[in-house]
Formats: sequence, structure tokens, C-alpha cells
Amino acid sequence: MAQLNIDIDRRVGAIDPNIFGNFVEHLGRCIYTGIFDPESRLSDTRGFRKDALAAVQLLQIPILRYPGGNFVSGYHWMDGVGPRNDRPNRQDLAWHSLETNQFGTNEFIEFCRATGSEPYICANLGTGSVDEAAGWVEYCNGTQDTPFANLRRKHGYEHPHRVRHWGLGNELYGSWQIGHKDAADYAKTAFEFAKVMKWTDPTIKLVGCGAMNVDWDWKLLKTCGERLDYIAAHFYMRPVPQQDSHYSLCAQVGCVEEYIRVLWQLIQAARRTLKLRHPIRIAVDEWNVWYRERGRASDGSFPIAPPLLEEVYDLTDALAVGAFLNMMQRNCYAVGIGCLAQLVNVIAPILTSSDGMFRQTIYYPLLAAAMMRGEIALQTHLECDTFPSPHTLSGSTPYLDVCTTLSAARHKLYISVVNFNKDKSEKLKLSLTGLKVGTEATLATITGESPEVTNGYNREAVSLRKRMLRKVSSDATLAIPKHAMCIYEFDIS
Ligand code: AHR
Repeated sequence: MAQLNIDIDRRVGAIDPNIFGNFVEHLGRCIYTGIFDPESRLSDTRGFRKDALAAVQLLQIPILRYPGGNFVSGYHWMDGVGPRNDRPNRQDLAWHSLETNQFGTNEFIEFCRATGSEPYICANLGTGSVDEAAGWVEYCNGTQDTPFANLRRKHGYEHPHRVRHWGLGNELYGSWQIGHKDAADYAKTAFEFAKVMKWTDPTIKLVGCGAMNVDWDWKLLKTCGERLDYIAAHFYMRPVPQQDSHYSLCAQVGCVEEYIRVLWQLIQAARRTLKLRHPIRIAVDEWNVWYRERGRASDGSFPIAPPLLEEVYDLTDALAVGAFLNMMQRNCYAVGIGCLAQLVNVIAPILTSSDGMFRQTIYYPLLAAAMMRGEIALQTHLECDTFPSPHTLSGSTPYLDVCTTLSAARHKLYISVVNFNKDKSEKLKLSLTGLKVGTEATLATITGESPEVTNGYNREAVSLRKRMLRKVSSDATLAIPKHAMCIYEFDIS
């Protein structure tokens, strides 16, 4: 039997709500026909797909990253503002699609207002200039009588958009990126952009482009650390070839956690070396499971909104996503932003067609995180059986992935448990110090017939089911079904 010890006084810290963020890119059908489709009978007067918007609103997304991704490294924001009829078509060389620019900065801000999300804009450090990035900051945030602030007013937005978080480019370390650089060049470039963007609006927070690589991340921190508030890390989980696909995918969360801890120590080393007093946190601003649908339009036809990266997710993927959310909360001292990539159609929890939409398996752990979690992460001591995971440093991964959180008012305790075991339910014995739970609890369960099941239009094999538990006690043994995620909400005294 597995054992979980929780002590109410042993806290990791406050969880930044921004770790439950998301991401929309001009890629495939994420924006066009996904969230924005003015021609559709399913859209509102702003052109937003009402069915997708309603499903997004339930996720309570605190922060939304835009406009890319790889796309941003060739994007010029001026193409996407002003009267729609005057906006140019452009070849998007990242995804070999035709960009109509009918959705741009102001449509994005409107969408954020509709979803209740804070906008987070990534600047173009591929083909863009310092001037252009600073102009974008001024257009969004300027309050004075200056050209770009006035242009925003002319476009119908008297009040500033107040975009607080800005990214210093996307994945510039990769040869697939337009404007790809080595670590030293990127760090110098990012320093200049950061300096001028912050001079334009000193209240903004900047995210440097990390590479999940100690050499790159260290060089960036040393050269540019004084200007950074976050360093980005992107994690796409996938099964390891020649290993069991279910277990090797689930164990990826452990690999990510290992790097998060390494990066956190690198940040502290840089702060110490440079005598930086301000905090720098990690922005996991792209993460998900992604390995089935890759590539871009390649026949030279540059289609508008082609169906790219439309991964269909199974229950294993939902468990990995649930465990990833647990992992970010456990490491809340380090992780300040998390953006699932992406929101609709492109490696996404929501898929749309011209007739409707459905929620993928991975929608449900995100929904659970929106509905059932506390604001403070507690330390947890877990003892349980493990399975081999040769690609992790430890070589093995616990079958159970756990995160415990406490509500800010200390009225509720949440235990979120993923059981990766695909053959066996697990019993989890609680041992609580400094708190007692009430006799009733709420349990939300996400599971399905087998790890391979998927959802579809009019087919929901995986969802979230809630029920009340009675006769609960502080030394309860929780039964976690095989291949399932369970979230318990206890009243505490
Ligand atoms: O999210 C899809 C792509 O993955 C993004 O455009 C890029 O940043 C990453 O490689």
C-alpha cells in the first residue's frame, strides 16, 4: 500500500495562478476557424466561435501567450492592426501557410477580455527589430501623445491594453527558427531588445528564451539576467522509442521535473554571481504531449489555415497532462508561468469543425485544475511502488504522481493523484499532521476503459465525473483506480 504524509505547516509556497495559462499561435486552425471564424454561423459578432469560447471560459485561463511560437519569428505586428480590408496577406514561412492578418493584436486583446485572460505577447527576435518591438509595447501600453499610442487610439482603443508580460522571441536556439542564433548572439540581442522594451514601459515583465540546455541557459542568464524576470522552457512529452509507450510517456514528467530543478539552481547561481536581487522564475510557456501529428504544409501552395498538428489525444496523454500540472504546482517556488500549447485545434484540448466541437481527453485535467485546487502547495512525502524509467536520472518513476494544495483560507485541502499503473488500482493511506478532515469529501475522477481511448465528435470516452464521499476520516485509505486521475477536496479543521 502507498503512503502519503501531509503536514499543514510544511509548505512549498504560493502557487502562481499563471502556471495554468495557455497559448494561441497563428498556426493551422488554432486561430482561424478555431477561436476566430467571422463567417461561421457559430460565431458571435466579434467573430469568436461561441462554442469554443464557452469551453475555453470554463478553463479559467489566467494568461494567454500570442502570436507564436515559430510564427512570431517572421511576424510584423503592424500587418495585423487597423482596418481589416487594408491588412496584407503574407506568406508565413514558419508553417508555409497564407496569413491573412484578419486577426491581430486588437482581436487578440478582445479575445483575452472575453476569456478573462491576461495577454502575454511574444516579440519577433527573428526578423524583427528593436524599434519594432518597442513600438509594439508603445502601441499596447502607451498613455502619452506619441505616434504608436495615437495609432492605437485611431484604431478604436482609447485606453491602453496594459500588456504586462512580453517574450523575447521564440526558440531562437533551433535551426527550424527564422533568425536562429547561437547562445552568445541570442543573449546579446535579447539584452538590447529587453533594454529598449523596458525603457519604453518600465512596468513590463520580460521572458528570455531558454533552451532546456545548461550551456545556453547559463549564457543567457549571465549576459541578460539583469533584464529578465523569467527564463522560458518548452517541454513536449512523447513516448521513448523501444520502450513501453504508456509508461515512457508518463515518466517524461519526471524528466521535466529534473530539468526544472537544475534550471532553478542555475538561476540562483547566476543571481549570486551577478548579485541580482530581483527574482527570476521559469516560464514553461509551451508544454504538452506532442508526437503524432508533425510537419507543415509542404507543397508550395501556402493554404489559409490548413489542418496542422491536429493531434487526437488518448487517456495516457490526459494522465501525463494531469501529472504535469501536479509537477508545476509541486515546483511552484520555481515555475511562475505555464502555457499549454495550444488552446484550440493545434495540439489542443478542444477540436472544432464547421459544425461543432468536442473536448479532448486532455481537456479534463485542465478543467479539474480550474475547479479543484488550493492556492498554496504543501510538501508531500510519498512512498509507493515504482516502474523502471531508464531515461530519467533516477531510473524509476513512482506509479502515483501526487500534489497537495491548501486553500488560502485554510478551509480546504486538495489531493490530486494520478495513477499511471495501467493494470492495477492503488491504495493510498493518508497520514495527516496538523489538520483533520471533515466526514464528507468531493472526488473528481478522470479515467476511461483503457489508456488508449480517445474522445471525438459525439463520443466522450474520457470525461470528469464528480461525486460525494461519505464517512471520510483523517486516516482514510484512498482507492485510486488504474490509469486514472483523482482529485479529492476535503473540508479541514
Ligand atoms: O506549439 C507548436 C510549436 O512548437 C511552436 O510554434 C514552437 O515554438 C514549438 O516548436
